[in-house]
Amino acid sequence: MSKFYITTPIYYVNDKPHIGHAYTTILADVLTRFHRRAGDEVFFLTGLDEHGQKVQQAAQKRGMSEQAHCDDLAPRFLDLWKKLGIEYSDFIRTTQDRHVKVVQDALQKVYDKGDIYADEYEGWYSVAEERFITEAEKESGAFRDVKMLKERNWFFRMSKYQQALIDHINAHPGFIQPDHRKNEILGFLKKPLADLCISRPKARMSWGIELPFDKEYVTYVWFDALLNYVTGIGYGADEEKFKMWWPATVHLMAKDILTTHSVYWTTMLFSLGLPLPERIFAHGWWLIGETKMSKSLGNVVNPLDLIDQYGVDAVRYFLMREMVLGQDANFNLEAFVKRYNSDLANDFGNLLNRVSGLIGKYFDKNIPGCETLSADDEAVTQIAKALPEKVKELVACFAVHDAIEEVMKLVRFVNAYLEKQAPWKVAKADLPRAGTILYVATESLRISAVLLSPVMPSRTDTILDILSAKGAEPVWGKLISGVTLKSHDALFPRIEQEAA
Ligand code: MSP
Repeated sequence: MSKFYITTPIYYVNDKPHIGHAYTTILADVLTRFHRRAGDEVFFLTGLDEHGQKVQQAAQKRGMSEQAHCDDLAPRFLDLWKKLGIEYSDFIRTTQDRHVKVVQDALQKVYDKGDIYADEYEGWYSVAEERFITEAEKESGAFRDVKMLKERNWFFRMSKYQQALIDHINAHPGFIQPDHRKNEILGFLKKPLADLCISRPKARMSWGIELPFDKEYVTYVWFDALLNYVTGIGYGADEEKFKMWWPATVHLMAKDILTTHSVYWTTMLFSLGLPLPERIFAHGWWLIGETKMSKSLGNVVNPLDLIDQYGVDAVRYFLMREMVLGQDANFNLEAFVKRYNSDLANDFGNLLNRVSGLIGKYFDKNIPGCETLSADDEAVTQIAKALPEKVKELVACFAVHDAIEEVMKLVRFVNAYLEKQAPWKVAKADLPRAGTILYVATESLRISAVLLSPVMPSRTDTILDILSAKGAEPVWGKLISGVTLKSHDALFPRIEQEAA
């Protein structure tokens, strides 16, 4: 047994959550469930990033105080996570006292160490990004609302830890994943690292955590937000809990915020004298057409609409199956319907309907016994027996889509096996032989359901209930002969409408 501490980014409360936020959170939930099943001790932290300019502007737009705005939007995230079956261990909001204390203590600690200094700085400032940008960044045209700004501010000596960070990345090949992202970060670190401006004068932006050593300033939202990963497990408050969980097993996020995690967070941890997380994993973006789904572009898909229409498991399945590890994926309803119909209605759902229909018809609904296996039966059992280990290995490297595909390969293989064996014909001449075929198929279905349960907790739970096999391990032979199958409706009815 080992420990598994996973985090999602804490999302800005500037609008309601969309499919992109749902994706990272479901992925964290799926990984958590896989590890919990494997007997690991797990801690899954998610939450909300409530400070900073983005949130302040969103509140102002609605004519609300910042806190009232956050309190109004937080339930939308909580409700969605509930609907999506997200089983987090803690939900952090950066306006909570526990977090404000951690941030102020950390600022003081880093300041006392001499890693924070004041300086006057004049440069290009991106209002949208809430930070000073370099000349080259300005030239790239990628930043909106850029203006020249001269300000006295507080700076964190990020440069001091540049070499230590490079050494750490090189010494720990799995630290930043996937590899091509690691190489981007190493490329970024080839140039001298500038120190990080970690303050905002209250006169300009007041919605943040006050610097303990200068009351005229609040801290930069990222210095605040990144610390959530240690607040959530008791840093400075519950040393035993903190020691149990830190360092995190993995920080999960999309590629947009890989640099802040790989460079800002790690150098902050160096300064605080804390070990670095074991892994930082950046997945790709959900795109609509060629562009990233984002609130500012107004092209977001609301997960609630999909859940209402197709059910939570279908949404979880699609998102997990469709995005290939580390790559971008395109969201459209046609792909959703196609994937659902082929994998869930035609393959997985069909296997359940077939075995339960045939066992109903020929065995009075009682799971038949299993006699001597033929070579064809053995071929199925070999795949099913090897599957849990294969799935475990794939999940260990975050390849959830591949793990799902391996399970679906078994499901398809068993459907083809049933076609070939035709137990409905065999039953007429040799009922025990037909029983063996159906046992092999049903046991494969059971193992598939157990292995898919982290992805589709609700429907697989129903399947295991139908088989009276809840709680049984995905080990061949645990399906109990003689048990009566429970009646059920079609769990994955075909979606007939072709989506617009
Ligand atoms: N508040 C910061 C994170 C601070 S973490 C210490 C932030 N918030 S965010 O609301 O913008 O969330 C960004 C994250 O949401 C991404 O890294 C990703 O996990 C998820 N996604 C948002 N849009 C997404 C897509 N279009 N596609 C995939 N994931 C997306 O950044």
